[in-house]
Amino acid sequence: MIECKNGLFHLKNRAFSYLFRVTRYGLLEQVHFGAPVDSADAEALACQPGLGWGGSLLLNGLDTGSCSDAIPLAWSGSGRGDFRESPLELDGRPTEFCYVNHRVLKEQPAMACGLPLAHGGSETLEITLAQPGAKLYLYFTLFETALTRRAVLENEGQTPLELRKFMSFCLDLPGDYAMTTFDGGWIAEMGRHTAPVAGSRVVSESTTGFSSHRHNPGFLLHESDAGEDHGRVYGFNLIYSGNHYASAQRSLQGLTRVMQGISPANFRKTLAPGEKFETPEAVLCHSDAGFGGLSARMHRFVNDHIIPEYWRGRERPVLYNSWEGCMFDFDQRKLLDLAKRAKELGCELFVLDDGWFGARNNDKAGLGDYNVNLKKLPNGLEGLAERIRKLGLEFGLWFEPESVNEDSDLYRAHPDWALHNEGFSDIPGRNQLLLDLTKPEVRDYIVENVSRILDSAGISYVKWDMNRHSVALGARAHDHILGLYDILRRIFGPRPQILLESCSSGGNRFDLGMLCFGPQVWCSDNTDPISRLDIQGNLSYLYPQSTFGAHVSAAPHAQTLRNTPLTTRGNVSFFGLLGYELDLKHLVSVEIQEIKAQTELYKKYRRVFQFGTFRRLKNGWQVSEGPVTIAGVFHKLVDAAPAYEQLRLKGLDRSKRYLLRTRAQKIRVGQFAGLLKHVAPVDLNPNGAVLRTADKIYALEDGVEGYHVTGGALMSGITLLPLFRGTGYDANQRTQGDFGSNVYVVEEE
Ligand code: DGJ
Repeated sequence: MIECKNGLFHLKNRAFSYLFRVTRYGLLEQVHFGAPVDSADAEALACQPGLGWGGSLLLNGLDTGSCSDAIPLAWSGSGRGDFRESPLELDGRPTEFCYVNHRVLKEQPAMACGLPLAHGGSETLEITLAQPGAKLYLYFTLFETALTRRAVLENEGQTPLELRKFMSFCLDLPGDYAMTTFDGGWIAEMGRHTAPVAGSRVVSESTTGFSSHRHNPGFLLHESDAGEDHGRVYGFNLIYSGNHYASAQRSLQGLTRVMQGISPANFRKTLAPGEKFETPEAVLCHSDAGFGGLSARMHRFVNDHIIPEYWRGRERPVLYNSWEGCMFDFDQRKLLDLAKRAKELGCELFVLDDGWFGARNNDKAGLGDYNVNLKKLPNGLEGLAERIRKLGLEFGLWFEPESVNEDSDLYRAHPDWALHNEGFSDIPGRNQLLLDLTKPEVRDYIVENVSRILDSAGISYVKWDMNRHSVALGARAHDHILGLYDILRRIFGPRPQILLESCSSGGNRFDLGMLCFGPQVWCSDNTDPISRLDIQGNLSYLYPQSTFGAHVSAAPHAQTLRNTPLTTRGNVSFFGLLGYELDLKHLVSVEIQEIKAQTELYKKYRRVFQFGTFRRLKNGWQVSEGPVTIAGVFHKLVDAAPAYEQLRLKGLDRSKRYLLRTRAQKIRVGQFAGLLKHVAPVDLNPNGAVLRTADKIYALEDGVEGYHVTGGALMSGITLLPLFRGTGYDANQRTQGDFGSNVYVVEEE
């Protein structure tokens, strides 16, 4: 609920309290953001300036409390004594927006500019502030586990107002924090980096035109000794897919100022008299129960209030995607053969990736065109989709509508539709340019073509790709994103049942803006399970596993050359939205059996895997829903003579009894190569036909354990079967080698 009394505003629920008040100078003093408190606690929670700090500017020379530099603020000005970073910059004028009035709204007002908003908030507080010639509206919306904030600036003057920087929120928190950001690049998304926040600014920013894999918009602010299950952690994110900026800096007074919004790099927007500018909505989340506590709150918020309502809690199909198996080299016969095999393995949806249209036989041509390549698909998409459905699979299709190749009919007809910078040469990325989505005719072209194809072929899933950075600067970069949102809204608004998975060279646009239109994102073109432990594991800090496209692909892996067991490729993908993306033609019998076992297990526990409470463990991950918990234990490089290993689960009922069982797995005999001669009665040639044949059809049992045990024991930590120690093979050990893993299913008895 939202309480407003005598200038004190308290947004509270069972998870947290957010408290601020109007000072006698009209500024918004930030009092508390954290565990639930009473409004009456405000005085005790507030910072007392005492006799102030030397060198301060005072709004009232007799009152040290009037030093805007030394009090925690929920919004700050500039040029008026607060020398910390300001969330708002106009054309060199000072800003000092002071409280005018407020309203509590049952529903958050829609964004006039078309930016997406979180849905289903309980109440919204609108605070109006003003300074001569301009009004500032701050919106605070309350959700069960998070709060959102955004701001709107209105030019009330007679002359244009130039906006150079405008953050979605600004907040001062007393205390010492570190900032964790998620940074990387293609096939190396979501590297986790932590920097202490001290006197200099720590910044996370994207300037590629999109949210980017360079710096994900989500970040954490936490006490330096916070752990997975203890300590204070704040999480922030932006419901936006364009250039973003976040910073944190600690002041002399020990206040950490944090803010987030559209990147100010090259940003300029001129507001005509009467015009308004709306910032994207930011998400603010708190937990005193460590990173795990924070993630649980963020996951709930995203699952319940970000992803489109149609897909809320709705289970996703196990898919097969043609890309890594075929790339551009396919025809209808090959696709149908793959689809038949995919169906036998347990897949439910067949996705045709890039290469089905125009002259798209490689990545140099065809983008922008929508005519189906009838050489590859003589019966058109409709004919292909029909045949695939007859096999018992749904049909999904890849599009990359925002880009154009110069070698395309579209570009030849409309070179001016591409995004150019007047007076500069074009700089292609992956041989392509971006279409200028600020142009209505470009948006209409995309909406008409994509909609027509979706309706003509009964498509139930779309992979929406985008493979380059932008050259749009300033407000044009922002308008480009608004154009993208307009397109997505017009295509998928009337077709909510289509499952939209966004993708941008993998995870180059993994953000809450895209998730408002489609419930899942292709995390990375890197499907190596060991890389995915980091990519998916780090995404899990801020995003639920129901948003992670996670596919099993071939080994050695195309991006890392790492050879990993098929069991581990499946075990890692279980903790996301399982799919398969490899050539199925050459699978051998033991691989077919393993994949069938994977899809069977995943489908049986799909709800738990996709929507269960996700927890990070010391040596793996856990998902729990109702009476079922499933844990994955993952290894990278093995140690010689490894020590005992424990599985320590979380969140169970101590007094209840559970049955724990290992998912049964097999070990390929080929893995042992020449070592087999020590146990086989005959001298086996490690490179010979006998071993090669045996490897295809025969596999060894790996250790399986099963215990009836209390929740207390499982949370205290049970000791798992020993790992291989160089002392021989035993069916009662985990004989796995590098990159081994196990999955344990735990059910209440
Ligand atoms: C980049 C994506 O990340 C891949 O999964 C694939 O769809 C290719 N584009 C197709 O060109």
